[in-house]
Amino acid sequence: MTFFVRMFLNIRMRRPCLAANWKMNKTIPEALEFVHSFLPSVSGIHDADIVLAPPFTPLFAIAEKLAGTEVKLAAQNVFYEEKGAFTGEVSPVMLRDAGCEYVIVGHSERRQYFHESDEIINRKIKASLKSGLRVIFCIGESLSERETGKTFEVLAGQIRNGLRDVDGEGLIVAYEPVWAIGTGKTATPEQAQEAHSYIRSRLREVFAGRADTIRILYGGSVTPENIDRLMACPDVDGGLVGGASLKSESFERIVKFKRG
Ligand code: PGA
Repeated sequence: MTFFVRMFLNIRMRRPCLAANWKMNKTIPEALEFVHSFLPSVSGIHDADIVLAPPFTPLFAIAEKLAGTEVKLAAQNVFYEEKGAFTGEVSPVMLRDAGCEYVIVGHSERRQYFHESDEIINRKIKASLKSGLRVIFCIGESLSERETGKTFEVLAGQIRNGLRDVDGEGLIVAYEPVWAIGTGKTATPEQAQEAHSYIRSRLREVFAGRADTIRILYGGSVTPENIDRLMACPDVDGGLVGGASLKSESFERIVKFKRG
C-alpha cells in the first residue's frame, strides 16, 4: 500500500511508541510500585511499543518484573566507550546486561547541564546502535531560537551532526522543543506536525526511503489531556513523556490514546 493510500485510509504507517522519561525521580521501591500497578493496566495493549526509562539504579530490578511482558526498558543516558577507566560512566553493553532495549540520547537537559555536544551525542548513538540498543535521539529548539525564526536551522544542524555516519536501523527521533519541556506549554498539534514533517524531510536526505519507517515522537508537556490531539497528527508517531509519566494512571491514559 502506498503512503498516500495509507494516509487516505488513516492507517498508521508506523507502530506508535510511548516512552516514560522519569528523569531523576523514583527510588527502587517507588519504581517497583509503579510497575506493579502499571503492568496489569496495559497488558491488553499490543499495538504500541511501551517503554519505561527510570534512572540507572532501579533498571535491573525493573527488568526482572518486565520479563515476559511487552513493556520495554530504557536508560536515560549512556557513554560511548565499551569499558575502561571512565569513572562514573555506563556503557551500552552494561545497559544491555541490565535489561535495557532502548536508550535516550541527546536529551536537552544533557545538552544544557552536562554540555553534551552534537559530536558526543553522535558517538553515543553509534556505540548504542552497534551494541543492539534502540536509540531515542532527542532534538529541539530553545524559545529564543524559535522566536528568532531559527527552528528549522537548529533541527537541521542537530540531525546532520548527530546522525553523521549513523545507520537508521534501531533509530527513533524525539522532537522536544526546549520551551515545552516541564513548562506546561505544549506545542500545538499544528506546531508539532510542522516540525515533525520538517524532521522527516531531513531524515529522507540522510536515510532516503527508510526515513518513512523511522518513528518521530513528540515530547514536551505531554499529558492525558493533549495526547489524543497530538497523536492525530500524521507525523507524530508517539510521545516521550516526563512529568505525566510519573503516575501510573496518568501514563496509562497516555498509552491508551485514542486510536484512529
Ligand atoms: P515533560 O518532559 O513531559 O515533563 O515536559 C519531557 C521530556 O523532557 O522528555
